[in-house]
Amino acid sequence: MKIVRTVEEVRQAVRTWKAEGKTIGLVPTMGYLHEGHKSLIDRAVAENDHVVVSIFVNPIQFGPAEDLETYPRDLEKDSELCQTAGASLIFHPDPSQMYSPTFSSFINMSTLTGGLCGKTRPSHFQGVCTVVGKLFNIVEPNKAYFGQKDAQQLAVIRHMVEDLNFNLEIVGCPIVREADGLAKSSRNSYLSKDERKAALVLSQSLAIAQKMINEGERDTGKLTLAMTKHIENEPLAKIDYIEFVDWKTLEPVGLIDRPVLNAIAVYIGKTRLIDNHIYE
Ligand code: PAF
Repeated sequence: MKIVRTVEEVRQAVRTWKAEGKTIGLVPTMGYLHEGHKSLIDRAVAENDHVVVSIFVNPIQFGPAEDLETYPRDLEKDSELCQTAGASLIFHPDPSQMYSPTFSSFINMSTLTGGLCGKTRPSHFQGVCTVVGKLFNIVEPNKAYFGQKDAQQLAVIRHMVEDLNFNLEIVGCPIVREADGLAKSSRNSYLSKDERKAALVLSQSLAIAQKMINEGERDTGKLTLAMTKHIENEPLAKIDYIEFVDWKTLEPVGLIDRPVLNAIAVYIGKTRLIDNHIYE
């Protein structure tokens, strides 16, 4: 497995593989890889001849008051994980490699990005779409793999691929959880011992809604209320949003009467965590 830092080196590897008729899977990440990322890499390795993992903490998807500077990084551990999982190449560019001083072409979507995480992170999806679009053009993969934990991101990227005719397949992969239910996230590393315990309210509140739905409840107002009550019982938690939205349009729904995404974002102390459940 090779670690390269320039676009030209990726292109060279890709040219060779394509000339040999090989398929390429791309797993875009910001590093500090965990079991969730590993599940994406494993799937990509199973479905492609070569797998490129990009590790790039993309500055333009962070807001001014967000955690760009402190975002956890560990290239050595990440490379071990990628190597063991069978990736062929890590693309680890410097920000200057991705964004020249005159960079000015952003991908801006007029639907899907205003609600949910887009409300508190107004320029986030412009940053995500722009970097993912660039990675698609650099790696030219047959398939690219994204976790369902970032459900809005997955919906936005699928839409972008359709709108802009990117020639690849997007594969969404299930959320990977800790034994006690907490969704795996690089940001879990920010949590103190007490916060780690408190963070369970996310998966617990989703499970409360799931149980109510299994028992026949369809009213998203009542479901939201039950989830809110549970989370508000935890003093370290502060709700950013609890939403039930149409899984295609991401517009709020009053009833569970179609494929629905139940998405939540909750601050645990200073750390903002997200989780969700999709009712297909
Ligand atoms: O999900 C992430 O880690 C990032 O948003 C992504 C897709 C790698 C783009 O920077």
